[in-house]
Amino acid sequence: MSDPNEPGSLPDDFAWGVATSAYQIEGAVTEDGRTPSIWDTFSHTPGAVDNGDHGDVACDHYHRWPEDIALMKELGITDYRFSIAWPRVVPGGDGPANPAGLDFYERLTDGLLDAGITPHATLYHWDLPQVLQDRGGWPARDTAEHFAAYASVVAGALGDRITRWCTLNEPLCSAWIGHLEGRMAPGLTDIRAAVPASYHLLLGHGLAAQAVRAASPGARVGIVNNLSTVEPAGGSDADVEAARRMDGHTNRWWLDPVHGRGFPADMLEVYGVGLPERPGDAATIAQPLDWLGLNYYFPMTVTADPSGPPPFVRQVRRPGVPRTGMDWEIDARGLESLLVRLTDEYGARELYVTENGSAYPDVVGADGQVHDPERTAYLDQHLAACARAVRRGAPLAGYFAWSLLDNFEWAYGYDKRFGLVHVDYGTQKRTVKGSGRHYADVIRRHGHASRRVV
Ligand code: IFM
Repeated sequence: MSDPNEPGSLPDDFAWGVATSAYQIEGAVTEDGRTPSIWDTFSHTPGAVDNGDHGDVACDHYHRWPEDIALMKELGITDYRFSIAWPRVVPGGDGPANPAGLDFYERLTDGLLDAGITPHATLYHWDLPQVLQDRGGWPARDTAEHFAAYASVVAGALGDRITRWCTLNEPLCSAWIGHLEGRMAPGLTDIRAAVPASYHLLLGHGLAAQAVRAASPGARVGIVNNLSTVEPAGGSDADVEAARRMDGHTNRWWLDPVHGRGFPADMLEVYGVGLPERPGDAATIAQPLDWLGLNYYFPMTVTADPSGPPPFVRQVRRPGVPRTGMDWEIDARGLESLLVRLTDEYGARELYVTENGSAYPDVVGADGQVHDPERTAYLDQHLAACARAVRRGAPLAGYFAWSLLDNFEWAYGYDKRFGLVHVDYGTQKRTVKGSGRHYADVIRRHGHASRRVV
């Protein structure tokens, strides 16, 4: 296995990051003018989230951000990827900005810069203002335009200090899981809502990219997708076709339009729903990308399932493959292969692994420590995959572990712990896990090695 600490295997100026998102950590959902998002509504819907959990308090990061920045500094983290809550900044969805909401992100950004940590801001990590959902949500074109206006407000306020901007995090989850599978907000199960939602999300990405660049000319703008490798369960035509559909649904639908290739024709046929296209949209969606973000968690092996929703595919379990506490297969080769695919097939010029991580049922032991060797092994395997991809030519500029903190894991609530830092939700005490200490060691050794070879 390649060693990510080996001088030369990862770039000297590699970004060693951690990632979080607003609704998963901030809490303070009614403070300083914030209005409800679709996730406030969804998480308070009986039965929607395990244990009835919600993000009302979460990690209380809204108040504890100085402590969280200090933790990052202690670990040697060089880059922090966080998201901005649209309902804090533009509580009406469209219309006037809320200075108190912006202030929070100004303080956070200044705190990061003071600590020597580079901020990477995501404009949308699933928390659409509920008022906009009430007016049609992402299936409505107006939402894309309101998103661009909000992006302009944020970049106008923070663009003098933040250069790394991400428009959307994992639009697949917003569109497919939120509008087709119903397991995420807004909880719909309708392909006729899901396809226009996906279209307007990508249109919103293009409009927001333009808005950010107009407000902050030095901005480097990208988009983050959660992608998977997809293999057929067997050699039958049906399985091979199923894999092609799943690749279209998971990967090509999100990559092709932003690279100027339009929406995949085979998938339009599978969905059987027309696009709400207007002249000029294709070019708007295909704004030049300064970088591309990959969130990688697991590979997929699939077979046909004519009884399911589009794309009429179901995943099968590969016997003997290790799994995380999410029941997700662990196979770091998928990360390597996707980084190479983005390079070779999509011509990516700068790549980030914007999320990668694993959940386990961690506990603080009698010794006051959290021992999580499985997460440490997962981290090492995936960093080694990054190093292999770099040797195969991938222009990988950084890796962001998901996540800095244990946090609100959407429909799974607080039981699934992804953090490098354990959070006791009763007391809000943070305890750096063994994997967090290990990541700090990897960063330190890489820094020393880089300095030696310079
Ligand atoms: O917690 C999520 C995150 O919000 C988006 N990417 C996947 C993570 C783990 O499920």
